[in-house]
Amino acid sequence: MITDSFGRVHDYLRISLTDNCNLRCFYCMPEEKYAFAPASRLMQVDEIETIAKLFVAQGVKKIRLTGGEPLVRKDAHKIIEVLGSLGVELAITTNGVRLDELLGELIAANVKSINISLDTLQSARFYEITRRDLYHRVRSNIELLLEHDIHVKINVVVMKGLNDDEILDFLALTEYHNIEIRFIEFMPFSGNKWTSNQVFTLKEIISRAESGYTVLPGTPRPNDTSKRFTIPGHVGSFSVISTMTSPFCDTCNRMRLTADGKLKNCLFSKGETDLLGPLRNGENILPLITETIMAKAKALGGQFSGVFEDIVTGKLDNRSMITIGG
Ligand code: GTP
Ligand code: 5AD
Ligand code: SF4
Repeated sequence: MITDSFGRVHDYLRISLTDNCNLRCFYCMPEEKYAFAPASRLMQVDEIETIAKLFVAQGVKKIRLTGGEPLVRKDAHKIIEVLGSLGVELAITTNGVRLDELLGELIAANVKSINISLDTLQSARFYEITRRDLYHRVRSNIELLLEHDIHVKINVVVMKGLNDDEILDFLALTEYHNIEIRFIEFMPFSGNKWTSNQVFTLKEIISRAESGYTVLPGTPRPNDTSKRFTIPGHVGSFSVISTMTSPFCDTCNRMRLTADGKLKNCLFSKGETDLLGPLRNGENILPLITETIMAKAKALGGQFSGVFEDIVTGKLDNRSMITIGG
């Protein structure tokens, strides 16, 4: 069992497969010309397998693939197959563009629930946010998942003045579809031009939802990133990921492996521990893992308090989102 100094058991590993993406969302990828990591610096399939097996032997029960966009990696099908055979829950967070091409592999790997990042239901706005004209492809891939009875969560990063006017439109989707809409408070990362007045808060999201619907609290799930809500008569549900105004660090069970094989003990950790170099040198990486998790801060990587006014943009010492994977 991997435990930190606050007694939190860490049984959820997020593995980023690449820092590349087929979209260009401004809040995720830094604007200055971004150089993707060369393939030789990325973990190879056998290295991902070795590291993942080590984590599973230490009690990891859930592995989530992230990116960049995990499905742009040419060997994504192989990685899905290998990790699907480890006997733990395999999950993925994707922008949905390539899901039609890899759905067979995901079903064969027993993936039952897929998280899709989609910040708007308007195709012109989708282009504005992502710089790619792929809205209809993502929407038809969501339909495809529902046809295959795969549970869908849609991650919506809510940014004030950009897409907060679509909260009720997203909630309307839950009336007839068994999907979960997850509204996410906009978070600061290197190069994403975050400012506190762009954050649309948990409180504001709920009050906007209540302007159109009756909102009831949902049943909490253990170690969940989101606070759940239901709307009477709707088959789906919604939730809010409120890192900025109401963090959920007390129940954190997550570890992050970047595509270049560095272990981060928190989404906001300054430090990271290289596992790939030592693995390639034939070293035992287990002590590196346990020490890194023991060094985890109580909350938010020790970098801020969760009162978002106290974050000075640019001072937060972290990677950009595209190199962490959420
Ligand atoms: P489920 O396993 O379905 O609950 O998904 P998840 O919320 O763990 O992962 P997902 O990749 O869908 O992330 C959704 C949002 O939650 C993204 O904005 C992530 O950055 C954020 N998130 C995921 N894990 C954490 C975490 O440990 N801490 C914080 N603060 N945010 C997180
Ligand atoms: N703030 C909050 N969520 C973000 N994501 C990407 N960048 C940010 C940010 N700055 C979300 C994406 C994706 C998930 C992995 O992280 O929407 O669904
Ligand atoms: Fe865990 Fe860090 Fe996220 Fe808090 S901010 S829930 S400690 S990963």
